[in-house]
Amino acid sequence: MASTSSITIPSPADFHVHLREGAMSEVVTPHVRVGGIDVAYVMPNLTPPIITTAHALSYQAHLQSLSPKTTFLMTLYLHPSITPAEIQKAAAAGIRGVKSYPRGVTTNSDGGIENYEDYYEVFGAMEKSGLVLNLHGEVPSDAERGICVLNAEETFLQHLFKIHKAFPKLRIVLEHATTAAAVEAVKKCGPTVACSITPHHLSLIVDDWAGQPFNFCKPVAKYPSDRKALQDVVASGHPQFFLGSDSAPHPSLSKTTSSPCHGCAAGIYTSPILLPLLANLLESFGALDKLAGFASLNGRKFYGLETEGLKGVEVRRVAEKDGGDLVKRYGFGKEGGEVVTFWEGKKLGWEVVRNE
Ligand code: DOR
Ligand code: ZN
Repeated sequence: MASTSSITIPSPADFHVHLREGAMSEVVTPHVRVGGIDVAYVMPNLTPPIITTAHALSYQAHLQSLSPKTTFLMTLYLHPSITPAEIQKAAAAGIRGVKSYPRGVTTNSDGGIENYEDYYEVFGAMEKSGLVLNLHGEVPSDAERGICVLNAEETFLQHLFKIHKAFPKLRIVLEHATTAAAVEAVKKCGPTVACSITPHHLSLIVDDWAGQPFNFCKPVAKYPSDRKALQDVVASGHPQFFLGSDSAPHPSLSKTTSSPCHGCAAGIYTSPILLPLLANLLESFGALDKLAGFASLNGRKFYGLETEGLKGVEVRRVAEKDGGDLVKRYGFGKEGGEVVTFWEGKKLGWEVVRNE
């Protein structure tokens, strides 16, 4: 059978991306579009985090000025200062969701959550006004209780069930799921709960990040059986599962200059190669026909975005025999900063074609 040479995706959307600030942001924000994506659901873990509607809107305007053709959907950072009134204000201003980071588990999460019940009033207001709860689904490591990065996600799932039970109509996304247990948990919850999946978790297992800082992210990639469960649910086309790249750029020095008391920054950068990377990965496990659902329609439906009459973005097999360009790194700022892209030095075999 001839292999597919081109797929057109209706207005692709990445439902979890970090776009940073300053010189880094100037470089990475336009890369969303370079990677074939039209809609970016933007994470709020800036320094300081985005905890007001006004901050979210000014950040949105800034991103828009850096990439005028991209649609930026904004989120707030769940924080003790957020009130039900702020939720109403955010909803009225077009903000789409609130991201919850457990305290201390990842980049800029020092202001994160310790007890979900403290936020039930806020969750109630979100349920009423249609804002989505985006959960970073890990509990903090705690050696005394036997919790470490390998079981932090599975241990978190009890919180997902509890919040869903208390707020059955609240739309919840379990972000960047990495385990077979998470896939089953999301399926069990039904249609108000969904799950974003990153390309790197479709690709990596523990061995790939142990000793390789550019493959290190939170939550960490897990066992081969977990990766297989993620691939299988994408291959099944299940509507509760969609793309959230968690593309998270860091200066390469903060990935490589770790020391005994200063760890490696967590985050994998995929924005500039996103659709070609996905085409490559989905083809590798026989799911290329699910690319449009995964990278556009499933997430769009869950978030209540348009699914009809959308302009397509084509991802095309590279014509050259040698598979085309190598994935490269990018410079930023005036001091020689660099951000290293996932799969640097490899060839993807696919490229984005925008017919406009
Ligand atoms: O690896 C990660 N990087 N996981 C997160 O949750 C945050 C992100 C970041 O902002 O760098
Ligand atoms: Zn993230």
